[in-house]
Amino acid sequence: MITAALPYANGPVHIGHLAGCYLPADIFARYLRSKGEDVKYICGSDEHGVPITIKARAEGISPQQVVDKYHKIMGDSFKEFGISFDIYSRTSNKIHHQTSSDFFKKLYDQGSFIEEVTEQYYDEEAKQFLADRYIVGTCPKCGNENAYGDQCENCGTALSPTELINPKSKLSGAKPVLRKTKNWFLPLDKLQNKVDAYIDEHKDWKTNVYGQCKSWLAGEGLQPRAMTRDLDWGVPVPVEGAEGKVLYVWFDAPIGYISATKELLPDTWELYWKNKETRLLHFIGKDNIVFHCIIFPAMLMEHGEFILPDNVPANEFLNLEGNKLSTSRNWAVWLHEYLIDFKDKQDVLRYALCANAPETKDNDFTWKDFQTRNNSELVGILGNFVNRTLVLTHKYYEGKVPDVSEYTKEDLLVLEEISKFPDRISASVDQFRFREALGELMNLARLGNKYLADTEPWKLIKTDEKRVKAIINISLQITANLAILCEPFLPFTSEKIFRLLNCSPLKWNAAYRTDNLRSGTVIAKEELLFQLLEDDVIQAQVNKLEDSKKENALNQKKLPEIKAETSFDDFNKMDIRTGTILEAKKVPKTDKLLELKIDTGVDVRTVVSGIAEYYKPEDIIGKQIVMLANLAPRKIKGIESKGMILMAENEKGELSFVSPTKDNMNNGSIVK
Ligand code: 2FM
Ligand code: ZN
Repeated sequence: MITAALPYANGPVHIGHLAGCYLPADIFARYLRSKGEDVKYICGSDEHGVPITIKARAEGISPQQVVDKYHKIMGDSFKEFGISFDIYSRTSNKIHHQTSSDFFKKLYDQGSFIEEVTEQYYDEEAKQFLADRYIVGTCPKCGNENAYGDQCENCGTALSPTELINPKSKLSGAKPVLRKTKNWFLPLDKLQNKVDAYIDEHKDWKTNVYGQCKSWLAGEGLQPRAMTRDLDWGVPVPVEGAEGKVLYVWFDAPIGYISATKELLPDTWELYWKNKETRLLHFIGKDNIVFHCIIFPAMLMEHGEFILPDNVPANEFLNLEGNKLSTSRNWAVWLHEYLIDFKDKQDVLRYALCANAPETKDNDFTWKDFQTRNNSELVGILGNFVNRTLVLTHKYYEGKVPDVSEYTKEDLLVLEEISKFPDRISASVDQFRFREALGELMNLARLGNKYLADTEPWKLIKTDEKRVKAIINISLQITANLAILCEPFLPFTSEKIFRLLNCSPLKWNAAYRTDNLRSGTVIAKEELLFQLLEDDVIQAQVNKLEDSKKENALNQKKLPEIKAETSFDDFNKMDIRTGTILEAKKVPKTDKLLELKIDTGVDVRTVVSGIAEYYKPEDIIGKQIVMLANLAPRKIKGIESKGMILMAENEKGELSFVSPTKDNMNNGSIVK
């Protein structure tokens, strides 16, 4: 049972998601399927929790509309990149509501929870309790100023809102107040011994994962954690007296793995969740470690009927060109956009992300590295070998796999070497070392290139035809084995090679053999597996990111602080009133100034205004404006200006008139 973290359905998928868990889990699932194992690879959209309701507010649509929109976009992207889920479900499904609700009910009925009235943060302006991501503040552990109410993404610590220093509401920005509310807590403190023992049994986990668990369990130890929330979006808490409350999203989401399996296999799902023979693996990103290694196992232990995760191979984070990937800052390579610019090049991205996967430390994706991986490795090594082999087969044998009458010692050595590759690759994949495994796969292509370069069939063809037949046959067998072994990593390429070889796809075990292609088989005319990527194509991607950077810099210009307090009397000294622009012309030899004639209702006067960059004179004749009418006159470029037009200025420095929104405000109406 392989699961990959259920992504929040609040935005499209980017390379960080893919590299974090969906690609490694896919490689592992494909690998095991190829080995003939009974594998299910489960995923789906996480459609509850504050990330969804925050997005709904931002887009001005309902949470249901948010999840419907992104569930589709995300599912499509995964499919396009060959992520071979057996099911991509969603937690808003009825079966999930039922399953997670039943899970909670069982724990409730057996007295697993503590029911407690505690003080929780409440936003008096928004009239709402502030759970999880609705509240931000400084992390008490690492000092990160943007820690969420349930977790600090910087240091991975799971938090409670009341632990945050300087908490602030995400809804109104206000300082929240404490209000009493009832919730149900899982007493993790009482489960600490069991969890300790469980983690200790798994010293084989990746160092980053095991280490994070240990440090979490040390120190002050586990604390009771609320499994319900005062929110109106989620799975309703199925007990009396819990109206208006829903399950904590980190309670219901991991149960989503179980409900998705139920949906996929209504009759046999228990084989995968209640059978000690089943190996349960959760692929996740490092920010999800405590939830999958401690909280979910504790829930499962308390429930009692399910197996526990056997391994949780979490990756670290992928950065992009030296900066953290960010949806809100549009600092990302979006999968759906990638496919527009790099049609049919899914495997190139899969390759680059796997070759550079953040397996043991955070890593950086750069377009330059992507280009090199494509040009030097995929084109230069793998594509080159397969292409040369196919070309030579056509050139010498009209595209037919030649028969071998005799092998030389050199051939036999190469044949022996080839059959070692499946075990070499397996050894790395079995330990979740996918980069290393991919490196081995490329070594097989390197071996092929070296064999051709050493034997030089293009020279021998004139003198020793028999020998060339053996060389080409062996090269074709290597090509077939490459197609088998690359399938978990590069499924599109594997399919293409098998098609070119006129061979139906073969499974892992066949790669121990070196006679998979029968002599006489007619292979297809060669086609390039990969194409060189030119500098301008790569530069266009870098430029796109530069544009995001500029856009962000502009957006991040801070709005000025509210000015010092003023008195009503001072305000009242100002005579602000409506007027209409009668005439407008540019002030000669200036870029910014317009000379305006304004009807103030009381008089007609001249005002010089610095708005020429934003308004053309001919467009504003007849426009009603608001002006400060008693500003002391000033000479500007030799013109006497009497008064000042009031403008709104945004953080980019752009100006706009502020005008009455009703048409019964005659000129001279007082603004107060
Ligand atoms: O971090 C996230 O994107 C979460 N939605 C992951 C949930 S994983 C699981 F528990 F469902
Ligand atoms: Zn922290």
